[in-house]
Amino acid sequence: MSGSLFCSKNGEIHKYIVSPSILSSDFSNLKSEILKTEDAGAQWCHIDVMDGHFVPNITIGAPVVKSLKTAVNAKLDSHLMIENPLKYIPDFIEAGSDIITFHIESAENDAAECIRLIKESGRLAGISIKPKTPVSTIAPYIDKVDMVLVMTVEPGFSGQKFMSDAAEKIKTVKELAPSGLIIQVDGGINDKTAGICAEYGANCFVAGNYIYKSPDIEKAVASLLD
Ligand code: DX5
Ligand code: ZN
Repeated sequence: MSGSLFCSKNGEIHKYIVSPSILSSDFSNLKSEILKTEDAGAQWCHIDVMDGHFVPNITIGAPVVKSLKTAVNAKLDSHLMIENPLKYIPDFIEAGSDIITFHIESAENDAAECIRLIKESGRLAGISIKPKTPVSTIAPYIDKVDMVLVMTVEPGFSGQKFMSDAAEKIKTVKELAPSGLIIQVDGGINDKTAGICAEYGANCFVAGNYIYKSPDIEKAVASLLD
């Protein structure tokens, strides 16, 4: 896995990847919000795509990714919380997503094809499980993806409470993981919960409220980087 994924704007390579979730940002100033996190050292930008079917909320889609592609430097980390990801993955490839993560719960029969499409485009493929979904459901794909995303809240909204029992599944993912697999965690992440997840084996932290609602974004990002 390329070290550049861990590299901040200033060239420093960190132990962990930080992917601030724009769902908690001020959408009226999206570009400057993201640039603030980049200046603080965040390497990725987490884009929560919700369709009102797979989750009970509607957010943003591929056109926003396309606009961000030329506006920011961070790697665009698209988290698809949608029905039928196979149908929409080409749009996110076309828009310029660097990492595309889909959920096994909405791709039971299509997971291999989703991964193939993403990898064929040269982007990184991620597969995700909701808090109640066992790791066994993604075991057949774990050596075919670049990243596993373990959700530590029920997907749909930012600002929810971290579920520690869901985080424990990171240990099982870590046991099965080929070397270089990125283990991302998303939901209720702050400096304390990130510490727990890192101990279990996570090395990539998504954080919405903790970063974007912080009075000191620089400090919040720094607390997750190393
Ligand atoms: C939840 C999303 C998360 C969310 C995280 O469905 O996938 O990325 O924005 O927000 P926080 O960090 O506030 O829990
Ligand atoms: Zn997310």
